[in-house]
Amino acid sequence: MKTHSSFYVGDRQKKMAGEPVNVNEFQELAREALPKMYYDYYAGGAEDQYTLKDNVEAFKRITIRPRILVDVSRIDMSTTVLGYNISAPIMIAPTGLHKLAHPEGEAATARAAAASKTIMILSTGSSCTMEEVASSCNTVRFFQLYVYKRRDLAAALVHRAEKNGYKALVLTVDVPRLGRREADIKNKMIAPRSKNLEGLLSIEVDSNSGSNLEAFCKATMDASLCWKDVEWLRSITNMPILIKGILTREDAIKAAEIGVAGIIVSNHGARQLDYSPATITVLEEVVHAVGGKIPVLFDGGVRRGTDVFKALALGAEAVLIGRPVVFGLAAKGEHGVKRVIQMLKDELELAMALSGCPSVKDITRSHVRTERERLLSML
Ligand code: FNR
Repeated sequence: MKTHSSFYVGDRQKKMAGEPVNVNEFQELAREALPKMYYDYYAGGAEDQYTLKDNVEAFKRITIRPRILVDVSRIDMSTTVLGYNISAPIMIAPTGLHKLAHPEGEAATARAAAASKTIMILSTGSSCTMEEVASSCNTVRFFQLYVYKRRDLAAALVHRAEKNGYKALVLTVDVPRLGRREADIKNKMIAPRSKNLEGLLSIEVDSNSGSNLEAFCKATMDASLCWKDVEWLRSITNMPILIKGILTREDAIKAAEIGVAGIIVSNHGARQLDYSPATITVLEEVVHAVGGKIPVLFDGGVRRGTDVFKALALGAEAVLIGRPVVFGLAAKGEHGVKRVIQMLKDELELAMALSGCPSVKDITRSHVRTERERLLSML
């Protein structure tokens, strides 16, 4: 196993046997295909990984209230996000370092997004440059931004994204410091530097005590980032801005007040603050707080079409998927990512048919029962 600064391009995909039938099985294939250090990097969460588990488990506590005798002979999953048509309300979340999963990295992911007619959000921490991804295919792409202490760097990234046809900026706000990911610390995870930063940021970090990601973030991330900086960001770009990492009504109200283009309910796939709530449990609170002023997107723990259905019923306009994409990529490259998206689409289509919802607009709050409602009904 290579664990040095270049991207891993070793022999993999050797133990693949049988076609996976759901997204969770892709996780097993990825575990077989990847060196432990990289699998752990993708799969892991913060500290006790309580939230990591709960992001998935919380979906299981929500049940669906199907309606019958509705004409579901045609199901239309298509929708729009920021005015862009997509084939289903399932988008690709920003995740770093896709070349650790597959030699073609984010270019393969982008081609899968294009084939699936969906939107890909490219991470600042990608292992292909944003230019390489832009020229790989013409899917609609948003760019996820981390703001570094060196603001000129953030500004340069924003301008490059704009120049390369990225349609929106996704400002991630839940990483003033890196969450404590103990698997990465134990493995002494050595992550290659983002290709987007090549030639822009030369910083040596001491990673003797654990993962070099933690040390890199400590040295570079701007922990002073606050609401007024969103104004600064708006002043340097015409791209619409989405804020990613909102979990409370208080922050949702602020975001709507300052007039960003949308928000993403996210706990960073449970990689930051452990014991933050499972995202599906706070989605409705956020949706109520913004009162339809701006769109609310959602991520965290989506592994089934029924999960997508539940998030839409609770008010999300679309969901993002993170780990399922990198697991699909690790297991079967571009084809794997396409399969992951197609599986979720097929499951969503079936859930819509079996619940009496011919289009995404037909999925309403009354189609789900939350755990809170179940408990209240017992009083
Ligand atoms: C992430 N996530 C993330 N988010 C972000 O804004 N910028 C980033 O660079 C990354 N990188 C990243 C790497 C890996 C390996 C993972 C698993 C996640 C968080 C990501 O966008 C998303 O919020 C979660 O992945 C959603 O949860 P699921 O779908 O993985 O359960």
